[in-house]
Amino acid sequence: MRFNNSLWISWFDELAEKDFVVVDEFISQEVFTTVMDFFSKSEKNDKLRKAGIGSSGEFQIQSSVRGDYIHWLDRNRDLEIKPLFDLMDELIENLKRHCFLSLSGSEFHIAKYPPGSHYSRHLDQFQQRRNRQITVLIYLNDQWKTGDGGELKIYRDHEELLIEPVARRLLLFKSDAVEHEVLMTRVPRYSFTGWLLKKEPDLLHV
Ligand code: OGA
Ligand code: NI
Repeated sequence: MRFNNSLWISWFDELAEKDFVVVDEFISQEVFTTVMDFFSKSEKNDKLRKAGIGSSGEFQIQSSVRGDYIHWLDRNRDLEIKPLFDLMDELIENLKRHCFLSLSGSEFHIAKYPPGSHYSRHLDQFQQRRNRQITVLIYLNDQWKTGDGGELKIYRDHEELLIEPVARRLLLFKSDAVEHEVLMTRVPRYSFTGWLLKKEPDLLHV
């Protein structure tokens, strides 16, 4: 276990109160290097694909809305990044234990935003599939500095907050509550992104 109970509880208290929480140095330097090696390998092997919007039935590619390239992960295939999946398991277990969330399933991808790209303001929910409960982001930009762009803008009540995508930082937010936008990046911008899925309500009582 990487973190103790009281740390998890303090992060989840913040998540409950503000709908999002930022945790710096969530992944170790070692895991960061492992993930970036995997990222380079995926890029070299041409695994990244232009991301679209909408779920399978209504999928479309619209660069004016979203300019990133993604690669969906599979924990049974992508064994090199097992430490990251282990950390996600720890996160999920703790959310279930401390927040009583009924989570079943998750989906993760790595994402690269080339210079000049962005993702317009949106909610992480599809019209046809509303089961995303928690959005998980781990930023992977070593040496990120002001002026590089690619900040995540969060819209909350009448406030707008900017989160800098610095390496090893975790961001959690409530997928159906937090509108957000990726500002235009001037440098290649790397992240690991995931969604923790709710159990379908009709499956809760079986
Ligand atoms: C997304 C998204 C934010 C980010 O993939 O839905 O909003 O900071 N990503 O990469
Ligand atoms: Ni999003």
